[in-house]
Amino acid sequence: MSTDSLFNSIDSIEFYVGSAKQWAYFHEKAMGFRVIGYSGPETGVRDRISYLMGQGDVRLIFTGFLSRSSEISRHVELHGDGVKDVAMDVNDLEETLSFIRENGVVKPGGVTKLKGENGTLAKAELKTFGETIHSLRDYGEWDSDLPPGFKEIESRENSLGVKKVDHVVGNVEENKMDPWVNYYVKGLGFNQLMSFDDKDISTKYSALKSKVVEYGGRKIIFPINEPALGLKKSQIQEYLDYYETPGVQHIALATDNIIDTVRRMKKNGIPFLETPGTYYDELEDRVGKIDEDLDVLKDLNILVDRDDDGYLLQIFTQPIGDRPTFFYEIIQRKGATSFGKGNFKALFESIEREQEKRGNL
Ligand code: FE2
Repeated sequence: MSTDSLFNSIDSIEFYVGSAKQWAYFHEKAMGFRVIGYSGPETGVRDRISYLMGQGDVRLIFTGFLSRSSEISRHVELHGDGVKDVAMDVNDLEETLSFIRENGVVKPGGVTKLKGENGTLAKAELKTFGETIHSLRDYGEWDSDLPPGFKEIESRENSLGVKKVDHVVGNVEENKMDPWVNYYVKGLGFNQLMSFDDKDISTKYSALKSKVVEYGGRKIIFPINEPALGLKKSQIQEYLDYYETPGVQHIALATDNIIDTVRRMKKNGIPFLETPGTYYDELEDRVGKIDEDLDVLKDLNILVDRDDDGYLLQIFTQPIGDRPTFFYEIIQRKGATSFGKGNFKALFESIEREQEKRGNL
């Protein structure tokens, strides 16, 4: 069989956090997500509280712990709030697992079958960078939008225009990017897209290397970063220091109207990275003609980049939790298939100003 149908899509992304209720409230009130489901003692799950949130095709799960002895408690103590599971939906779990086993690079965990009133959900886990996992979910015999153990929550549509996950980025240690690219390419049958080296993405002070893997015609996209040597500490290294291990750095959320989405998020108090005003002076020379009003983009600090296929608009939030680790990107693609390489410099300078404020530069 063709290997481009073993993974369908990103099913959901689960965070382990200090307070699931607060993360859910924040995403509902400021980010345009709505609560779809809840799981906890009331639904027969004794050790944790989880909220399933949705916007467009994006599904996020925020999970907190109810006891000190919980694995979630240990995870949060070590990493702070962060992504635990980038779950993927598969067509046929057995087929996907035998493909992975044959490749011999990735060692999958055993199959768990969760039974409930909606049928049986078959799951297996792959360990990836740090303590992050990919759970693989086969919904073939499961007849519900909610995972087992969740009850439905009635909530109003709340969207700020987020349609889907564009990409999920992992930060790994120096010299570990290539082994992790190999994990996805040789181990899981992903394709490598393109690469930047530290000459492309560097400023005077810090640098990174990045490679991108994708699956199924860009249905799933995972860029992987490692720190590169600069005069001062790389922002990837700062992440690794605070997260304590490799992990998910950011999730890029795609919208069809970034100006509207970002304007509304800002109104709700989401803090975004600032961009130097001078960035916009040279923008038209760099990217050519675009549909959007430059003054509006400048006002909102939205970045623009162009590649051979078109252009893209993007902006990055400040870290969402207390530690300078996980953040979101909001992205609108107008043909472009790349990731904003031309904006790295502007982004870096912007991130470094924040790093400097924390005394970590
Ligand atoms: Fe990104």
